Amino acid sequence: MGGRIPDDVIDRIRDHFDIVDVVGQTVQLKKSGRNFFGLCPFHSERTPSFSVSPDKQIYYCFGCGAGGDVIRFLMETEQLTFVEAITQLADQAGIQLPRSQGEMRRDPEEEKRQQLRKVTELAARLYHHLLLESDHGAQAREYLTERGITRGTMEEFQLGFSPDSYHFLHSFLKRRGVDEKTAVEAGLLVERDSSRGPSACFDRFRGRIMFPIHDTQGRVIAFGGRVLGEGQPKYLNSPETTLFYKGKFLYNLHRARKAVRKAEQAILFEGYMDVISAWQAGVFTGVATLGTALTESQARVIRRNAGTAVICYDSDRAGQNAADRAAEVLKEQGCVVKVAKMPPGMDPDDYVRSRGADSFSGEVIAQALPYPAFKLESLKAGFNLRDEEEKMGYLTRAIEVIAELPRAIEQDHYLRRLAEEFHLSLDALKQELRRIASKKRGSNGDKGTGKWNNGYHRGKHMVGQERRPQAHEQAEKRLLTAMMHDRSVADRVMKTVGADFNIEIHAAIAAYLYSYYSEGHPADPGRFLRYLKDDRLLREASGLVILDTPEVTEEEISDYIRHIRNYPLHKEIERKKEQVKQAERAGDIAEATRLGVELIRLREKVHKQA
Ligand code: GTP
Ligand code: MN
Repeated sequence: MGGRIPDDVIDRIRDHFDIVDVVGQTVQLKKSGRNFFGLCPFHSERTPSFSVSPDKQIYYCFGCGAGGDVIRFLMETEQLTFVEAITQLADQAGIQLPRSQGEMRRDPEEEKRQQLRKVTELAARLYHHLLLESDHGAQAREYLTERGITRGTMEEFQLGFSPDSYHFLHSFLKRRGVDEKTAVEAGLLVERDSSRGPSACFDRFRGRIMFPIHDTQGRVIAFGGRVLGEGQPKYLNSPETTLFYKGKFLYNLHRARKAVRKAEQAILFEGYMDVISAWQAGVFTGVATLGTALTESQARVIRRNAGTAVICYDSDRAGQNAADRAAEVLKEQGCVVKVAKMPPGMDPDDYVRSRGADSFSGEVIAQALPYPAFKLESLKAGFNLRDEEEKMGYLTRAIEVIAELPRAIEQDHYLRRLAEEFHLSLDALKQELRRIASKKRGSNGDKGTGKWNNGYHRGKHMVGQERRPQAHEQAEKRLLTAMMHDRSVADRVMKTVGADFNIEIHAAIAAYLYSYYSEGHPADPGRFLRYLKDDRLLREASGLVILDTPEVTEEEISDYIRHIRNYPLHKEIERKKEQVKQAERAGDIAEATRLGVELIRLREKVHKQA
């Protein structure tokens, strides 16, 4: 790496942001006491153990130990290098990085990504212009208009059109001086098999309506292209590139995010057209997967933004199966799942067009069924309920579904409904439920909880450790925390304890603190965390900083110091006592006496004062 970005510039950038706002763009936060809590973006969890401290300007996860300041957060969530994160924040803050730092931006990977973004953006603008303004786009305009899409919506979604030619984009990019290789890497051009003559490139998208796909910051990273009318494949998507992973992004998320947060609910669609139609109908919380099944990572993104996900898939068999799978993935990530029902043979876009916007939001979305109800309904399709035996089969499956519900009141609710529907006694159903549940427990053991056992105690925001920390460990932690907040404490500890912290990682943090202060830095835990480059130290130290620290008195500090200094002596004393006992048991009076004297000496050494 070239030169360093001066510390004062880094501090100015850091001070410009409130970490709560920055984290809040990715994680849904709720205030609790002095800190904010949310679901950790770095590991799977259902109960929030991720905390952000506005006072200290740091974040820390009690579940997985991730922690740091606003710069670190950006590095971790967007996979940026330190310089990339700084550069991005500086741009946002309008702070000029020193001239020579221009060189530092030249991280080859970031440069590559920037090139890809640039050409993708350029293509998006060309396609959009062609759709709206050119003769080439006339037919596509007509097609979309026929499907009820207004010009305003085409603009909002930056829809485009790729002419039916092998070299339209190709020559456009050439004229603009874009490197062919870059356009190939961006997935816009395809390279002809070079073994059959000189290599040449041609347009990947030809004669298609173009749906730009954006990243969370609203930058175009890929396209979905739909044929005009009939044809195969109906949709052609950009291949995966360094910018674009199908399993990571959601269509329309950058536009919907605000509304999703506000409504605390996201609507998941299957297709781009569904999202767009819904938007035009006034439903602004829609997102869609990119032509593949919902991944765990996409579900996590949804969960980070909203508590509830409404799945709104096609009403056909395939759509309902996909809904079932998506629901499971979303539940795994802790979402409350609802499923919207469409009349047979319709997808959301068809529905909006034939029955209107009001009916869509008022009937389809607002009446979405809670997942268990949906599941019980959709199960019926597999059984002929007029046949007694099949009816029993259905009931058994239905009760199995109910047995999996986490809350007793929910189980009760659905059992009652089932009893009413099939004119059965509630008691009989309850008995059956207990039978099924006990059978399940027998075969499953308690493995169901394993996945979420991240050492975090539900409801209590505590460092996740089963064992109770020992007194000396606690003393070291408290002392380090106090040292981070107050230089005079650090000075005092340096003279008394020095490097003699009993726990190795604490000794290391203390050493960094001594040198941090000796370099003239002010007491500022957030800043100190940045000073720690080592990941292990950073985690440990963030864990200390995030805990609310009551004012520590002089006396407590003396206590801690004493504890730490005496700990090795106490250990030694315990060992001696054991040896004395052994000697006595063995009848070796001389040895016992000698050891006894040593024991007294040791006891005399114990510090009464710090
Ligand atoms: P319209 O027919 O224009 O209304 O589109 P749709 O969204 O209703 O299409 P459909 O329900 O068939 O597909 C839903 C989503 O699956 C689309 O938005 C695409 O993302 C994806 N998809 C559909 N067909 C194809 C295909 O042939 N290839 C690929 N890669 N993806 C497809
Ligand atoms: Mn459709």
